[in-house]
Amino acid sequence: MEKYHGKKKIAVFISGRGSNLKSLIKYSKKKNSLIKIILVISNNSEAKGLNYAKKSNIKFKIFKSNFEVRSIKLLKKMSVDMICLAGFMKILSKKFIKNFSKPILNIHPSLLPKYKGLNTHARAIKNKDKFAGASIHLVTDKLDSGKVIFQKKVKIYKKDNVLSLEKKVLKIEHEIYPKAIFKFLSNF
Ligand code: GRF
Repeated sequence: MEKYHGKKKIAVFISGRGSNLKSLIKYSKKKNSLIKIILVISNNSEAKGLNYAKKSNIKFKIFKSNFEVRSIKLLKKMSVDMICLAGFMKILSKKFIKNFSKPILNIHPSLLPKYKGLNTHARAIKNKDKFAGASIHLVTDKLDSGKVIFQKKVKIYKKDNVLSLEKKVLKIEHEIYPKAIFKFLSNF
């Protein structure tokens, strides 16, 4: 493994609550973390998660129209090394991914390749799965289909419902996104 010098400059894209952004900010502040979050971009001006950027004095932008063109301009201007999607509810185009040309990671609340897309927990419960979980994967132009970097399982009990499962999975999401970033950048 190559020795790592300096921290990678990260942009986090969000659309809502931002609990994963919160966990990434916490991780980025650790002395031995491999990242510095320099930018948060949202396509939604109401995104609660923007408050975490504000609190930590991280530059944030809201682009409700022309999202990709405006983001790419800023990402390049700020020399962002990697994008982390965290509850970002917009699908990035092939053109954007190609143009950015650096890694884009996403966190998805299922054990990929199972349950791409929305309502993952309801589908896992309906199918009587024994396990649910979360995955961090590389973003490609096919929804939730890029290489999986890190995954963690949680057990689904009979008493679980969508809400209880979401809560359990979210807890591990906050734990594994930083771990996945560390793993990915250590091998990069
Ligand atoms: C998470 O479950 C994440 O896996 C999914 O959207 C949710 C976002 O939650 N992509 P938050 O905004 O990070 O709290």
